[in-house]
Amino acid sequence: MPKKIAVIGAGPSGITALKNLLDQGLDALAFDRNQDVGGNWIYSENDSHSSVFETTHIISSKTLSQYADFTFDDFDPNTSDYPSHDELRRYFQAYARKFNLYDHIRFNTLVLHCERIDDQEWLITTETDGIKKTETFTDLVVCNGHHWNPRWPQYPGEFTGEFLHSHTFKKAEPFKDKRVLVIGGGNSACDVAVETSRVSKMTAISWRRGYRIIPKFFFGQPSDKIGERSTWIPLRLRSFFFDLLLKIMVGDNKLYGLREVENKFGEIHPTINDELLYKIRHGKVKPRLDIKHFSENKVVFENGLEEEYDTVIACTGYYLSHPFFDKNLIDYSSGPVPLYLKMFHPEYRNLYFIGMFQPLGCIWPGAELQSKIMARELAGLWKRPEHIKELCKLEVKRPHYKQIDTPRHTITVDYHKFKKDLLRHLPKGFISKNPDFQKVEV
Ligand SMILES: Cc1cc2nc3c(=O)[nH]c(=O)nc-3n(C[C@H](O)[C@H](O)[C@H](O)COP(=O)(O)OP(=O)(O)OC[C@H]3O[C@@H](n4cnc5c(N)ncnc54)[C@H](O)[C@@H]3O)c2cc1C
Ligand SMILES: NC(=O)c1ccc[n+]([C@@H]2O[C@H](COP(=O)([O-])OP(=O)(O)OC[C@H]3O[C@@H](n4cnc5c(N)ncnc54)[C@H](OP(=O)(O)O)[C@@H]3O)[C@@H](O)[C@H]2O)c1
Repeated sequence: MPKKIAVIGAGPSGITALKNLLDQGLDALAFDRNQDVGGNWIYSENDSHSSVFETTHIISSKTLSQYADFTFDDFDPNTSDYPSHDELRRYFQAYARKFNLYDHIRFNTLVLHCERIDDQEWLITTETDGIKKTETFTDLVVCNGHHWNPRWPQYPGEFTGEFLHSHTFKKAEPFKDKRVLVIGGGNSACDVAVETSRVSKMTAISWRRGYRIIPKFFFGQPSDKIGERSTWIPLRLRSFFFDLLLKIMVGDNKLYGLREVENKFGEIHPTINDELLYKIRHGKVKPRLDIKHFSENKVVFENGLEEEYDTVIACTGYYLSHPFFDKNLIDYSSGPVPLYLKMFHPEYRNLYFIGMFQPLGCIWPGAELQSKIMARELAGLWKRPEHIKELCKLEVKRPHYKQIDTPRHTITVDYHKFKKDLLRHLPKGFISKNPDFQKVEV
């Protein structure tokens, strides 16, 4: 039976999935609810799929944040070390143009439901301009992203001021002259606190534990480039040296009035930020402990401190969400996620997940390698291991990092180790910069 493959999403993961399927001469069609390629990187002031804000710049540097088939040098050699959301949107759209993907994407189309019939058939229901349609596909590739469905925190009491999630935070200006409390210690929280502090009357940041704040540069080099040079050192030793370097360059959290770090490097997803500590030492951002409860417009903290706020912004992360599946088929919203190489299901052979992992680094270089393996399997050039069920279990039992048990830590991988794991399944000349790859290779 000829393959007919559906891809959900035309963000950074979906476009590389599509490109690599087409490279192998396969019949593939992507659906995206958006009007263009780019996913999370299509900034919009209105509520949308995207969670980036006006001033978002990537946290992984450009040479570690590029597709092997289309590098930033292929796109624009003048791209900055840490591109903005707009540079990235243009990069992804240039990738889609370069590899002639636009004719294979149905935009403004929401995937409503995916019903698995068997190993050869999916019934996929979509909606475009209010019109519903059900079509049959042999295989399904899920690339719907995992940073768009807000995870809200719960506290006793009620906050009567404005309460929003970082997903709907778009710019600092609406918070001018307000008293703002930001919750969280991840990259959203630290970015949002820095941005609002530029215009607010007062900005505070509440942490439920201590986080390492890693600068974007060490010795004039992007910090992940320094990390890349030390991948030959065993992980434990590397973490020790990295902590030492951080101590020398930045100092302990207590110097900034922040909670002390109590976990080892890698046990918590790292936070990369150059401005938070500066803003704290300039009195623009006030460190606070965890929230105990709300009382009208007051927030009561763990240490008994009570303060009035106009706005609370919960930067408390996102659910892994697949609303188009029946929950008894797939539900990873509360972990664990037993997928071999974070992409192969233990039982459903015609289902693939691309980009559904959280690297300490950038997502799409890994998504590109996953896509190549998937496309080679579908083209009959690669076979998945026989003992895949066991391998799926091992993904959960033996993660790259033993992380603390909080909701965001279910799909973490080490960027370099993950790439190495994936590359093991690809031939040496896996890079394909030619848009008509299938014509020359197959
Ligand atoms: C503020 C912010 C900054 C980030 N910075 C970085 C960073 O520096 N480096 C990094 O690697 N990652 C970063 N991320 C993570 C981000 O998830 C990835 O960069 C990247 O967007 C993942 O690509 P994706 O294609 O998997 O998902 P997305 O970019 O989310 O794309 C998913 C696509 O699927 C479409 N879609 C979803 N559901 C449906 C449906 N039912 N029907 C049709 N279409 C659908 C969406 O419209 C979207 O186009 C950041 C995230 C946020 C929120
Ligand atoms: N500039 C950028 O490139 C940029 C900006 C923003 C986000 N991002 C990326 O986007 C993704 C999502 O980041 P994110 O920061 O939005 O989410 P996140 O990484 O999931 O971080 C959520 C934070 O909120 C905390 N938290 C969760 N529930 C809480 C609760 N009930 N009470 C108090 N604290 C709570 C978490 O604490 P625990 O540590 O205890 O889990 C964590 O500190 C990440 O991949 C991130 O790197 C990148």
